[in-house]
Parts: sequence; C-alpha cells; structure tokens
Amino acid sequence: MSLLSLREVTRTVIPQDQPALTILNGIDLEIEPGDHVSIVGRSGSGKSTLLNMLGLLDLPTSGEILFDDRPVRSYSSAQRDRLRGAAIGFVFQQFNLLPGRTALENVTMPLLYASGRTFWRRKKIAADMLALVGLEHRLNSMPDRLSGGEQQRVAIARSLVRGPRLILADEPTGALDLDTGQSVMELIDEVAERTGAAQVIITHDPTIARRARRHFRLDRGVLTPVDDPSLEPLTRRDRREMAPSSAESASIDDGGLASLGLAGTATAVGTAVAGRDDERDGASSDDEAATDGDGGES
Ligand SMILES: Nc1ncnc2c1ncn2[C@@H]1O[C@H](COP(=O)(O)OP(=O)(O)OP(=O)(O)O)[C@@H](O)[C@H]1O
Ligand SMILES: [Mg+2]
Repeated sequence: MSLLSLREVTRTVIPQDQPALTILNGIDLEIEPGDHVSIVGRSGSGKSTLLNMLGLLDLPTSGEILFDDRPVRSYSSAQRDRLRGAAIGFVFQQFNLLPGRTALENVTMPLLYASGRTFWRRKKIAADMLALVGLEHRLNSMPDRLSGGEQQRVAIARSLVRGPRLILADEPTGALDLDTGQSVMELIDEVAERTGAAQVIITHDPTIARRARRHFRLDRGVLTPVDDPSLEPLTRRDRREMAPSSAESASIDDGGLASLGLAGTATAVGTAVAGRDDERDGASSDDEAATDGDGGES
C-alpha cells in the first residue's frame, strides 16, 4: 500500500491578464511508508508547487492524489487539514518559528490540535522532542536568541512532534552553513528511521540529495527519475565520514541520537508515534482542531 500516490497530476494557474501557466505536468509519483526521496530542479521548475500538492495544501488541476489509497479529493477541506496536521510534518528553509514564543511553546503548538493523552501531555512531549534534537537547555529561549542551526532544530522538533508519517522538506538546509546543514539532515534521517516516516526532500544541494534512496529531477514541471551514479545512495558509513567533526554533530552522527545523551530518545519518538494512534481514535480535542483548522472551501 502506498502512503501517497500522484497520478498524472497537473497544476495550472491563470495569472491576471496572462495566459494559463502549467506549473506541473503529468506527475506520477508513489511514496511508500519509510521512503526517502529527493527532488532537485532549477529555481522556478515547480518544486515548491509540487511540495504543496504532496502536503495536501493544494489540489491538482487534473489528475489524482491518493493518501492511504483514498483520493484526497474525497476529503472535505477540514478533513484534509486534520489529516495534514496528524500525518505530515513540514520543514522549510525559513524556519517559520513564531517570534515572541519560546522554543517550548513553538514545539507545543501542533499538539494543541492533538487529542486525548497527547493533548494533555503536550508540554512533556514537546520538551522530550526538544531534548531529542539536542536543545533541552534551550526550552525557554526565544527564536531570536537562537542560532540558525538551533532555530532549524526547533522547527524540526515542531514538525516531528506529532509523529508524522510523511516529512516534507523544502530546502531545509538553504539557510544553514554546510556543517550545520549536514547535521540537521542527519537528525531528520535518524528520526525518520526510528519512526518509519517517509521523507521527501527538495534541495539544490547534491550532497543532501545523495542521502535519499530515490532521486528525481523536476524540469519545467516534468518529474523524471535521476539515474546518476554520483547520486548513488549513501551508506551510513559514508554519512559518518562526510559528517562534520564538531563535538555536537559528531555525537549526532555517532551511532545516532542516543549518544546525544538522549536516553529518552526512543521514548520521545515512541510518545510521538503513540500520539499518531490517538489521532486516529479522534477524541475530543480533534473536533476542536477541525473547527480551528477549517480554512476554506465551505
Ligand atoms: N499562484 C501562482 N500564480 C502564478 N505563477 C505561479 C504561482 N505559483 C507558482 N507560480 C510560478 O510557477 C513557477 C514554479 O514555482 P515554484 O515556487 O514551484 O518554483 P520552485 O521550483 O520552488 O523555485 P525555487 O527553487 O526558486 O524555490 C514559477 O515560475 C512561479 O513564478
Ligand atoms: Mg521553491
């Protein structure tokens, strides 16, 4: 069973006073649970537009998207919002943290839309997640007091805190230096590996693209698999050798998150995954989320 399927997906927009513009053209893509896909392409090739489709933020102009084999079109807008909140985590180049809110408050935010036990334990879960990304000492820091790498770690903690089954990243290392970028990617990989989440990473950086198992290129809205030997997937050993040697990132990459002093890692991730099940049960605060998240189409 596929997690996400795109079949003959096109996206056409009609800008004001201009002819129709086809941004995505006949995209076919299957994302399996635990998949790891990279997409490269020039500026303007349609990468972010595609990511918005994968994230159920936009619907195709023609073609079909299925999530868990169910056509996304058959969901109401509120159902789509709920599904996105529970199952998909986004990581952007600009970290999009809420200013004036602490790291802990930022990571707690998505759990306000969770249900049952996850909702009531949200602070503890968020704190565990921040520990997981090595920021247990920064819980009460405001974003403007954090370095770019630390802000991205908070953003990653926020995107993973509900235990998404699909992680979508749009140039996640674009605003970071090379070493910090590599350690941030290592972190996403580790969490995805432990939770079985699928990843789709959009990047301009070939070394980031190389980390994925399957590689694609988007060219003027057409997606094609890349069969370039220089894009052969990296082994864990390759990654270790490529990783920066600073104490912090070395510890991330040295046998995984456990060595960050995160004895609670498995627990934290376990909690997040447990959160997923809560979501499916759909208890009280879910309804609240549906109301809050109902953005349109009604
Ligand atoms: N709503 C819209 N109306 C008009 N044009 C649009 C719209 N959305 C996207 N485009 C155009 O479609 C093309 C693809 O945009 P998109 O943002 O997906 O590119 P991208 O590959 O992510 O580029 P970058 O690498 O610079 O982020 C661009 O030329 C963009 O200007
Ligand atoms: Mg883009």
